[in-house]
Amino acid sequence: MQNPDEHVDHPGPVLHTLVYCSRAADGLDAEAIDQIVATAKHHNPSFGITGLLVFGSGIFFQWLEGPRENVIGLMRIITADPRHSNVVLLSEEDDVTDRMFPNWDMELVEASDIREVLVDAEQHATDPKQKQTLAQLLEELDTGSLGALVN
Ligand SMILES: Cc1cc2nc3c(=O)[nH]c(=O)nc-3n(C[C@H](O)[C@H](O)[C@H](O)COP(=O)(O)O)c2cc1C
Repeated sequence: MQNPDEHVDHPGPVLHTLVYCSRAADGLDAEAIDQIVATAKHHNPSFGITGLLVFGSGIFFQWLEGPRENVIGLMRIITADPRHSNVVLLSEEDDVTDRMFPNWDMELVEASDIREVLVDAEQHATDPKQKQTLAQLLEELDTGSLGALVN
């Protein structure tokens, strides 16, 4: 991962967005989830990463956004984490102009709230790529692989 001290902010920062879902390891409890979120909140600000994490029905869903190298570096670490497996990339967008969740270092969102959060983000998205990603994820929630998260 890029050292934050070496990171130079561009006037119009080029952002990268990565969204995935995965299967949580057996027996992962609320305490383990809180631990993951605490670690994320501790590290993410120094790497300019924001986003959200949902845990429901044994499935994780995470939205990561930030400088490209940092997002990709973090994703490599997360993918190797034994607390989950079967990581499936749902969306990856480069050259995104806006953060969807600028105030969330890593917000734990209830599975029952994820639809509302994504609808709200879709309505506020100004980048057409983000809008499309959000529309696609909402469709996945209704009909596709993400349905298990909320059902
Ligand atoms: C589903 C999931 C999401 C995670 N999200 C983040 C994250 O956003 N930021 C982060 O630093 N670590 C995250 N982690 C934890 C990392 O995989 C890794 O354990 C951590 O970055 C190592 O930090 P440490 O060296 O301080 O223990 C996540 C882990 C899992 C299983």
